[in-house]
Amino acid sequence: MLFPDYRPRRLRQSSAFRRMIRETRLSVDDLILPIFAVGGKNVKNPIPSMPGQYQLSIDNIVKLAKTTHDLGIPGIILFGLPDNKDALGTGAYAKNGIVQQAVKAVKNSQPDLAVITDVCLCQYTDHGHCGIVEGNTVDNDASLDLIARTALSHCHAGADMVAPSDMMDGRVSEIRNLLDENNFSRIPIMSYAAKYCSAYYGPFREAADSAPQFGDRRTYQMDPANAIEAIRETTMDIEEGADIIMVKPALAYLDVINRIREEIDLPVAAYNVSGEYAMIKAAEQMGWLDGKKVMLETLTAIKRAGADIILTYFAIETAGILMEK
Ligand code: PBG
Ligand code: ZN
Repeated sequence: MLFPDYRPRRLRQSSAFRRMIRETRLSVDDLILPIFAVGGKNVKNPIPSMPGQYQLSIDNIVKLAKTTHDLGIPGIILFGLPDNKDALGTGAYAKNGIVQQAVKAVKNSQPDLAVITDVCLCQYTDHGHCGIVEGNTVDNDASLDLIARTALSHCHAGADMVAPSDMMDGRVSEIRNLLDENNFSRIPIMSYAAKYCSAYYGPFREAADSAPQFGDRRTYQMDPANAIEAIRETTMDIEEGADIIMVKPALAYLDVINRIREEIDLPVAAYNVSGEYAMIKAAEQMGWLDGKKVMLETLTAIKRAGADIILTYFAIETAGILMEK
């Protein structure tokens, strides 16, 4: 088909035509809202590098959960900031830990909202690493039991899904086995399967107070230069029992999302991370771009690349816009 027989502009001349041939449609059903839980009452601490996002006490999380549900967003993912940290991250798997309490409160007030929990130790360890530290390294196998116990404690609190983000080898099967042994075989695992060692997590580490106190996460998170390895990581997690596969971050890894979508037959999630959010908000505040339009374009691109589910701090704002349409 060549010009002048074919003229692509014919189908772009009206909104009606453009709508008819639109290939990708962002829906509120695609979105999951991340929320940061802290202790106390009526706490709403703004996160400076993430305008519009807050550390929230449970009473405020319950309110936000109602808004989220009312907007039609199907789920939230909870991160916790414990009162105390220690070497073993005991706050992560404490029966009355911050996430466990938040899960209970949200499920009590919004039973139909899917409550997903991030399963990791880094917010709870004094060294800020995602596993147990032995000497100068993060000990893979010693971390597995604690990570699985964290997932189990979230299920006991009422979580609908668990999402391990630690990147220890073998954690999906460790979690699956422990959940199955404890009558939680119905709880799905969304694994952060291709999670890269990314500087885009910077604002999150401020928000969740989870920066490593020494070194970095390069020995467990993936090298940003690798895409074939993402297939291997993903395949491993599926064999271990993952139900949903996640790629993280999203925007600098659209090729990885796309490859995984083509090669893997499970639902694919993508995490539109804190730094991606911060960049858009900062440029918008500077008056350098139209934040809302860039937000919608970005989320559409993540979906077009192949994501079925998008975890995004823009969930509320986007749902509001989609509702108006
Ligand atoms: C913790 C975790 C991180 C994020 C989600 N879970 C940070 C990290 O690995 O350092 C990042 C989320 C974001 O940047 O929005 N394992
Ligand atoms: Zn972690």
